[in-house]
Amino acid sequence: MALLFYLLFWVSFSALIFIIHRTSRYRRLRLPPGNLGLPFLGETLQLISAYKTENPEPFIDERVSRFGSLFTTHVFGEPTVFSVDPETNRFILQNEGKLFESSYPSSISNLLGKHSLLLMKGSLHKKMHSLTMSFANSSIIRDHLLVDIDRLVRLNLDSWTDRVFLMEEAKKITFELTMKQLMSFDPGEWTEGLRKEYLLVIEGFFTVPLPIFSTTYRRAIKARTKVAEALSLIVRQRRRESEAGERKNDMLEALLSADDGGFSDEEIVDFLVALLVAGYETTSTIMTLAVKFLTETPLALAQLKEEHEGIRAKKSEGEALKWSDYKSMPFTQCVVNETLRVANIISGVFRRAMTDINIKGYTIPKGWKVFASFRAVHLDHDHFKDARTFNPWRWQTANVFTPFGGGPRLCPGYELARVELSVFLHHLVTSFSWTPAEEDKLVFFPTTRTRKRYPINVHRRNHVKS
Ligand code: HEM
Ligand SMILES: *[C@@H]1O[C@H](CO)[C@@H](O)[C@H](O)[C@H]1NC(C)=O
Ligand SMILES: *[C@@H]1O[C@H](CO)[C@@H](O)[C@H](O)[C@H]1NC(C)=O
Repeated sequence: MALLFYLLFWVSFSALIFIIHRTSRYRRLRLPPGNLGLPFLGETLQLISAYKTENPEPFIDERVSRFGSLFTTHVFGEPTVFSVDPETNRFILQNEGKLFESSYPSSISNLLGKHSLLLMKGSLHKKMHSLTMSFANSSIIRDHLLVDIDRLVRLNLDSWTDRVFLMEEAKKITFELTMKQLMSFDPGEWTEGLRKEYLLVIEGFFTVPLPIFSTTYRRAIKARTKVAEALSLIVRQRRRESEAGERKNDMLEALLSADDGGFSDEEIVDFLVALLVAGYETTSTIMTLAVKFLTETPLALAQLKEEHEGIRAKKSEGEALKWSDYKSMPFTQCVVNETLRVANIISGVFRRAMTDINIKGYTIPKGWKVFASFRAVHLDHDHFKDARTFNPWRWQTANVFTPFGGGPRLCPGYELARVELSVFLHHLVTSFSWTPAEEDKLVFFPTTRTRKRYPINVHRRNHVKS
């Protein structure tokens, strides 16, 4: 009863604040048109229910047709301006740190740790972003990472029996790759144990972030502590080794031996946790969805197979892929782009206006949230003909396309993710044929995924040629 009273009080109190706000300060400004919905809740429920279906577009489509490509709504507790205009999105991405800054709810920052790249600002962000970029740039992938990507993907596929949940396998692969790349760990019981904890942390990102209400969130915070403890041990040990002149070639080494020498263990752990988070769901989901879309588009799958069998035919049995092989997969690259475009794992990015911003004849008030929607651009018929169909052949001509963001926060893993997906597809199509074990559907909230983890029945193929 007391709780109910409290809730009622809170809802009406925030409604009041909201109305006062709306009428005083913003009357003078020309806000992008739109509808703020209910007090407090705004249009959050409409947004969530749209994204829980297979077709989330109506939420944005309806508003674009009423208000245009820049509109105001109110989601997740705050008024938010949505942009579905490529030019405006570019402007938002490029002006990161000047007019806009990235903004995550405190529930997420608690799970990431305060020294995560995603939360850094200003010159520290600039420095760490370029360090991260150089850790995964194409020459590093070519010279160091590719050989392990090839080996670990193959190792995982070798363990497949008749029926696998593709989403689960893709997650395992991605985690193992990241552990190898960050700290030179080969898969084993230790990494698998860490992954179990880590999964609990990830769940925390997508629940109600109130520890009093959500056991999932409480459990996530606990698991986060465990993951941090496990990683701290590694960091300490590696620091000793590094000081003794025993150097490995990985991200952790780069952090331990950064020029000014000065990252604390805690900073390094937060940094590693964030990289694990950023690459995990994204890359594994894109692996799964590439297979789903290909399965549903037999002509594309046939052409992809032909490309990879051509590469395999020039190699001896079990010979690893080289950079030159990766560079001779033109159709695969079309498949990668088309999968990224249709799936839109990261549907867009949230920013906060650092000052009043005038754009397209409107003002976005200082402190307001902005959402640059990539999905809406990628699925817009004006930019991509028949935009909602998976059609890899369309990439023979390029277009407005930002699956990895842009500007100062451009995804440092953009090439790495492409290579991992390409190598995965290579070994998949040359080693197996498969059929979906059940019908499975896409959903977009809280993350883009398929409902049933995409179960498939797999059949090992006899080797094409040795
Ligand atoms: C298909 C796979 C992936 C997609 C679609 C993707 C997408 C994105 C996007 C859109 C951003 C920009 C966020 C923003 O502007 O606020 C981003 C940032 C980031 N990504 Fe990725 N990513 C992928 C894979 C990876 C991988 C494999 C890594 C591991 C190296 C990674 C590491 C990061 C990091 C550390 C950031 C934060 C950059 C910053 O805030 O400066 N991502 N990613
Ligand atoms: C990649 O990063 C390394 C340092 O980690 C640097 O020496 C190299 O020049 C970079 N390569 C490219 C293509 O940017
Ligand atoms: C795929 O998209 C990237 C941009 O992320 C672009 O640079 C590249 O040319 C595209 N690839 C193809 C084959 O069109």
